[in-house]
Amino acid sequence: MNRTPHHHPLRLRRSVLSVPAVNARALAKSALLDCDAVIFDLEDSVLPEKKAEARAALVEHFKTLDRSSGQEHVIRINALDGPDGVLDLEAVLDCMPDAVLLPKVSEPQDVLTVADWFSEAGADDGPRLWAMIETAASLLNLAAIAETGRTRGGRLDCFVVGLNDLRKETGIADVPGRPFLVPLLLQVVVAARACGLDVIDSVFNDFSDDENFGAECRQGRQMGFDGKMLIHPAQIAAANEAYGVTEAEAAEALAIVSAFAAPDNAGKAVVSLAGRMVEKLHADQAGRILAKADLINDRKKKA
Ligand code: COA
Ligand code: MG
Repeated sequence: MNRTPHHHPLRLRRSVLSVPAVNARALAKSALLDCDAVIFDLEDSVLPEKKAEARAALVEHFKTLDRSSGQEHVIRINALDGPDGVLDLEAVLDCMPDAVLLPKVSEPQDVLTVADWFSEAGADDGPRLWAMIETAASLLNLAAIAETGRTRGGRLDCFVVGLNDLRKETGIADVPGRPFLVPLLLQVVVAARACGLDVIDSVFNDFSDDENFGAECRQGRQMGFDGKMLIHPAQIAAANEAYGVTEAEAAEALAIVSAFAAPDNAGKAVVSLAGRMVEKLHADQAGRILAKADLINDRKKKA
């Protein structure tokens, strides 16, 4: 099997807001918010007796949704081993979101079953797949789950960590700084990167605690995450900032790219910049930072 990470095109996924599909006000509001992606949730934020109503509301919502806004649209379905999973997938075919988020993925087959379902429905070009990493089993099977990103059309794009479920199942404490979770979070990042997937940090429940929320966003960024899953509009600005590109970062990236472009450095793999070694790989990294800064500026112009 080809083990070279196949980085898909860069997409902004700094802020990924979950919206309960049954909440009509939140649904309407979500299109106007400055988040990079919206997850329309049919799973845990919808009571069993409201699932059908939520599906119908989503299908209606997608009829008028502006698909060219730049916002990425994701639908979180219910597990396929329950009564709602297949009904949700049928609603997904009506909505054709950018991606489907699979809950409680625990083994590769959980992803492959849905990939095959779309193929059989004649929707090979249909939604991409995202996987919640939120069960103890998913952590044991991380590498194998990530590898599904390379098979069956490579439908898997992204991991999203779900700490509420993981803490419930494992008993790992919910304490500031996440000391006992960091080793697990890093494994998720590494598994995702080995297969060229994006990876989104978990929700932070206390949406009135700006200080600890900001700290957790910065911590996630330092661990290598691409963005954070959010539960409330009040969390969007801080996530966009923590996962954005500062002016200093952009300036440094430009300096590195420029150093390699300078005629004096033509044909060099290593150059010296302000007393520091920079290698070609740093120029690649800097190029990605500049591309991300461009995407952020484009988004601002659209808003
Ligand atoms: N997406 C879009 N809009 C949202 C929103 C969300 N996730 N959460 C709140 N809003 C809107 C409200 O509708 C309200 O809009 P309005 O001013 O037009 O009435 C405004 O933001 C302020 O909301 P607020 O009163 O502060 O929150 P709340 O008490 O109504 O709701 C929660 C709090 C936690 C119940 C709600 O934010 C929520 O359901 N979040 C998502 C939960 C979820 O998806 N869970 C599953 C993944 S973990
Ligand atoms: Mg969950």
